[in-house]
Amino acid sequence: MGNNFSTKDKAVLITGCSSGIGRATALELAGRGLTVFATVRKESDAQALNAFGLPTLIPVWPVDLTRREDISRAVAQVSTELERRGLDGLYGLIHNAGGGFIAPLELFDLDRFQAELATRLVAPVALTQACLPLIRRTGGRVLWIATPGLIPTPYIASIHACDFAANCLARTLALELRPWRIPSVMIRCGGIRSAAPEKNDAELAEALQRWPAERAGLYAAALGRLQAELADFDRQRSDPQAVAHVVYTALTAAHPRPRYQVGHLAGAAAFLELLPQTLADALLARRG
Ligand SMILES: NC(=O)c1ccc[n+]([C@@H]2O[C@H](COP(=O)([O-])OP(=O)(O)OC[C@H]3O[C@@H](n4cnc5c(N)ncnc54)[C@H](OP(=O)(O)O)[C@@H]3O)[C@@H](O)[C@H]2O)c1
Repeated sequence: MGNNFSTKDKAVLITGCSSGIGRATALELAGRGLTVFATVRKESDAQALNAFGLPTLIPVWPVDLTRREDISRAVAQVSTELERRGLDGLYGLIHNAGGGFIAPLELFDLDRFQAELATRLVAPVALTQACLPLIRRTGGRVLWIATPGLIPTPYIASIHACDFAANCLARTLALELRPWRIPSVMIRCGGIRSAAPEKNDAELAEALQRWPAERAGLYAAALGRLQAELADFDRQRSDPQAVAHVVYTALTAAHPRPRYQVGHLAGAAAFLELLPQTLADALLARRG
């Protein structure tokens, strides 16, 4: 492939394209001529994607990844549309959708946590199972959007627990698909500008009202410090376009790397991951 990569006969499926990394990547790939199936949950988000007027950008909705039936319907829709457009199969499956929330484990909303595990872990497996026959036809690849460092950052475990497990799924898949030379590639993102920080802030503000005051009070100071740190971090986040470019590179490389890193502090987080766990835990504990 490499320079001979032809975008016109390639189709990809990306989850969570209403905003942030998913939307930037969908627009980038469709702008380069790939056929992009972009999943969203809401009709208004599908209309917003249509408004870009890109002929190869195809919103697929409603796809709520916590609902198994939405996943089956979406893959059936993709199969039909591939056939209609005379395309062989799917060249890329990009697991992107995710949310998560900020909370101490002691105060996790278990329904929200279960939904996040379903979105970030169960749904990607379900989608991979459903799409692999289509991917085998093209010699395609599977990409996973995740964070770079497998580090236990306090109060962000709803997100990072999924990243630890997604890392395991992505690497295991790479080993299991070796006989068919289907790469499973991690795109490990540092701080990226997206809708997520605002959603997390709003959700934390709401949770602070909802949590029992005596328990919330135990964490108030630490959460206040985290919010101040995040406000500073948020100002330095990288443009999601940077991730879109890396995704394009990972899709078009003849021999993609098993992992790519992109975004603010991605390198530092990846370095922490290399440390012995006891040392990383001690360093994180010193941050308070
Ligand atoms: N931003 C970063 O710094 C960063 C860093 C590392 C990794 N990541 C990962 O990148 C991915 C994209 O995040 P982002 O930062 O671009 O955030 P974002 O702008 O909030 O986008 C998240 C997308 O996921 C969708 N989504 C969430 N739950 C879903 C569900 N149950 N079913 C279907 N779609 C769902 C959202 O749809 P709705 O609009 O309908 O909610 C939205 O389209 C996430 O997996 C995140 O963990 C982000």
